[in-house]
Amino acid sequence: MDPKGQRAKLNDGHFIPVLGFGTAEVKEAAKSEALEVTKFAIEVGFRHIDCAYVYQNEEQLWCTFLRPELVRPALEKSLKNLQLDYVDLYIIHFPLATKALEKCKDAGLTKSIGVSNFNHKQLEKILNKPGLKYKPVCNQVECHPYLNQSKLLDFCKSHDIVLVAYGALGSQRVKEWVNLNHPVLLEDPVLSAIAKKHKQTPALVALRYQIQRGVVVLAKSYNKKRIKENIQVFDFELTPEDMKAIDGLNRNIRYYEFLVYLKLLICLCHVNITFSNNLTLFSVDILQVECHPYLNQSKLLDFCKSHDIVLLACGVLGSQGVKNAKEKYQSAYSVEQQTMDPKGQRVKLNDGHFIPVLGFGTFAPPEVPKSEALEVTKFAIEVGFRHIDSAHLYQNEEQVGQAIRSKIADGTVKREDVFYTSKLWSTSLRPELVRPALEKSLNNLQLDYVDLYIIHFPVALKPGEALFPKDENGKPIFDSVDLCRTWEALEKCKDAGLTKSIGVSNFNHKQLEKILNKPGLKYKPVCNQVECHPYLNQSKLLDFCKSHDIVLVAYGALGSQRIKEWVNPNLPFLLEDPVLSAIAKKHKQTPAVVALRYQIQRGVVVLAKSYNKKRIKENIQVFDFELTPEDMKAIDGLNRSIRYNELLLGVGHPEYPFFEEY
Ligand SMILES: NC(=O)c1ccc[n+]([C@@H]2O[C@H](COP(=O)([O-])OP(=O)(O)OC[C@H]3O[C@@H](n4cnc5c(N)ncnc54)[C@H](OP(=O)(O)O)[C@@H]3O)[C@@H](O)[C@H]2O)c1
Repeated sequence: MDPKGQRAKLNDGHFIPVLGFGTAEVKEAAKSEALEVTKFAIEVGFRHIDCAYVYQNEEQLWCTFLRPELVRPALEKSLKNLQLDYVDLYIIHFPLATKALEKCKDAGLTKSIGVSNFNHKQLEKILNKPGLKYKPVCNQVECHPYLNQSKLLDFCKSHDIVLVAYGALGSQRVKEWVNLNHPVLLEDPVLSAIAKKHKQTPALVALRYQIQRGVVVLAKSYNKKRIKENIQVFDFELTPEDMKAIDGLNRNIRYYEFLVYLKLLICLCHVNITFSNNLTLFSVDILQVECHPYLNQSKLLDFCKSHDIVLLACGVLGSQGVKNAKEKYQSAYSVEQQTMDPKGQRVKLNDGHFIPVLGFGTFAPPEVPKSEALEVTKFAIEVGFRHIDSAHLYQNEEQVGQAIRSKIADGTVKREDVFYTSKLWSTSLRPELVRPALEKSLNNLQLDYVDLYIIHFPVALKPGEALFPKDENGKPIFDSVDLCRTWEALEKCKDAGLTKSIGVSNFNHKQLEKILNKPGLKYKPVCNQVECHPYLNQSKLLDFCKSHDIVLVAYGALGSQRIKEWVNPNLPFLLEDPVLSAIAKKHKQTPAVVALRYQIQRGVVVLAKSYNKKRIKENIQVFDFELTPEDMKAIDGLNRSIRYNELLLGVGHPEYPFFEEY
């Protein structure tokens, strides 16, 4: 974000102004006005102009967004209309045209390339395309308080794709395209009340809402007063309460349903789409698709019939066509498999490895015999846990390693089925101590590699045997280490094959940023493991992590073990919370399983510690039910900044992480 917060960085390094000027106007007479209003918009401060070939007004406009049906010739035609050398952003509807689009970028005809009206699966297909050269920088979709696209937004943020909102003011309500029974967004009483409070208009509130949630927003107006008004979006700020109230308006109202219709066509047909000669984007009358017994297109056929579209079947005859379809079907399926396994139990890390979304926490206080770690870890693997979390600090890696090896030996799992995390303790943060520390863990575990090695806590302590070195007054003895140097040593451990992935724990967003901005960074952290539960839901840190494709791993997700030396006993018990209990009752589950499920549904990988067989088994039920959006919202509402593990021993060290807001 630039200092005025007026531009956001795209994943290819270019910048996009967060407020754009929309130019589509349906009235025929308006074509000549396009020149006037666009000049005016630039005069009053707009620096991002959105247009498309189909709006048929490019001769008048300087243009950033385009949607023609043929790639390079179409872009060249647009450039000719515009009399410009290049556009800043060229976006397209067609999932198959990505390579052609990449070539346009390479040829300098567009600075950036993106997509529009893509759902997350279509985006995923592009992101997972073998040989992908450039990720889409944006996905432009209808987005406003009545259709806030929060899931798509989360998805886009987690892939560093900017969501660009159109229809942000409730669309132009053109009767051919929009169901006029839908309510008028700008007459919404909640928006109006918030606008009144800020002495602004509902339109400005609707635009500001998008910018504050990290969305680039387009505002179309052909009225000079309103064009000028819209630029005031930078003059005020909505409070978190305003934002929450606007979030609450979401009700799945899509004004531009014709786009749903187009999108449906595109996503259902993997192959050629033939449009009639006088194509406009909104009237398709012939659709040519692959259609045969392996791909009978019955749903698409019903859809076409009901919309008076002729379906032209191709690939009906000939074994080759059928074989291709089968392969296509299977490869499409395997793409899905790669990103999420069938039960949705693993997510992809930014280095390409996968992490199971539910992990087994193995820490127990010193009075618990270490032999129990062996027993419970074996049991956890038997009942289905495939992600085990431990650390040098927990002094149980010998037993946990033994448990994993015994479950491999008896054939329950293979090594590659188990995801094991270890952690670099604070006394080994000096770069030269990193690899020996990991080798010591591997030796205790009797494993060849760990799946994930993370910096346990950013506060460095004096190297040596003592895990908590103290001076004669009982004060911790700190060490001074540049965490970027520690990180470089971790990168070397990954290169040496001692760990598959590397990450951090208990880092605030500034500390993460320092690593992300380190000159010569070789690998980004794949995760940040932090305390996270409904009373400390870490939503800001989570947003930050998602926007950098870093997985947030939650510890203390059940309210922590409340170990008396570390945790203030006066803090409320999470699992006794009445809201959690009511939701649990409704789903015939326990508050613990609800607290775990909450994390998984918001894209957080969650750890659950239990040394009790009944509860270990219970925790795996997290995959057996689903929380509703209302449940999720109610649990979000429990957030109250209660941190059980304050790790106060680090207070006084410059890297103590928890004085930052997030
Ligand atoms: N990176 C870090 O700095 C850090 C810090 C703390 C923890 N961790 C990791 O995160 C893991 C989990 O965090 P945590 O140890 O704080 O504990 P937690 O997962 O919040 O669990 C807290 C307590 O909940 C109980 N519990 C488990 N399942 C339950 C259920 N179904 N119903 C009711 N109660 C249940 C457990 O007691 P029982 O054993 O009696 O079932 C456990 O002691 C740790 O074990 C460790 O691996 C990392």
